[in-house]
Amino acid sequence: MIHVTAVLVLLISAFIFVVVTGMLVYVVVKFRRPENDDGNEPPQIYGSTNIELAWTVIPILITVVLVLVTSRTIGEIQNMKMPEDALKVRIVGHQWWWEVHYPDLGIITANEIHVPISDRDAAKATPTHLTLQAADVMHSFWVAQLAGKTDLIPNKDNESWIDPYETGVYFGNCAEYCGTQHANMLLRVIVHTKEGFEKWVANQKAEPAAPSTPEEIEGHRLFFANSCVNCHKVSDSVAVGVFGPDLSKLMTRQTIGAGVAPLNRETLWSWVRDPQVLKPGCFMPDMKLHDKEVDAVVAYLETLK
Ligand code: CUA
Repeated sequence: MIHVTAVLVLLISAFIFVVVTGMLVYVVVKFRRPENDDGNEPPQIYGSTNIELAWTVIPILITVVLVLVTSRTIGEIQNMKMPEDALKVRIVGHQWWWEVHYPDLGIITANEIHVPISDRDAAKATPTHLTLQAADVMHSFWVAQLAGKTDLIPNKDNESWIDPYETGVYFGNCAEYCGTQHANMLLRVIVHTKEGFEKWVANQKAEPAAPSTPEEIEGHRLFFANSCVNCHKVSDSVAVGVFGPDLSKLMTRQTIGAGVAPLNRETLWSWVRDPQVLKPGCFMPDMKLHDKEVDAVVAYLETLK
């Protein structure tokens, strides 16, 4: 819809550009200073009702066409009805990360939104319906290749939807200045085939294996003995904090710190040691763990997959 409108607007604008530039070039060439210019002022001509009417009426007509065409497209998009069975995702913007809920599937994750591929054919389309909320200040959801920007506003639910036709990873970011780490409030939309999405859902719902090695067990103990549990949630455990990202399936994500670095042992270690190194100003404090304790906590976190 937007593409057709954009092409039409571009064509009209291009036509105006060509006409205006053509006339300008013509006038510049035709009325350039002649060789035998006597330096006297040429005769001054004032007023021409016909020309004035033309340059008033034609632009008004063009503007009316543009207004009608764009308002029609805006209306079509605003009044778009989501299919009853559309996948529902609730996204909450936080300073500086994205909380991602799948209310019908009972899945909570962060910063990476997994969705199934849709179809160009409206009858077969499987769009994803997004509810956008903010936990603290205003943010803006923007995945340029999939949808326009939509603000996340405290105490107001906004809506949007995405309807991707190709599998792959689509990059997005927060598009409303929201504080120190606004620039590192990145998100990814990962579009799967239908089967791939089912697989992802099944994996997200599966309980992670219990910690087994002594190091993992020690890390588990440390995690639950420290204040980690006040901010982070882990599956069905006493860790029910909601200030920070849900860690139940941490290791299934591609990045750490809302896209600040790829997620691997080194970055995870650095993050647990002191998050302020990778993401200065973020709200997770330096827990002042010793290196050995960090080793253990990382070993435990690595079981969350
Ligand atoms: Cu959130 Cu900028």
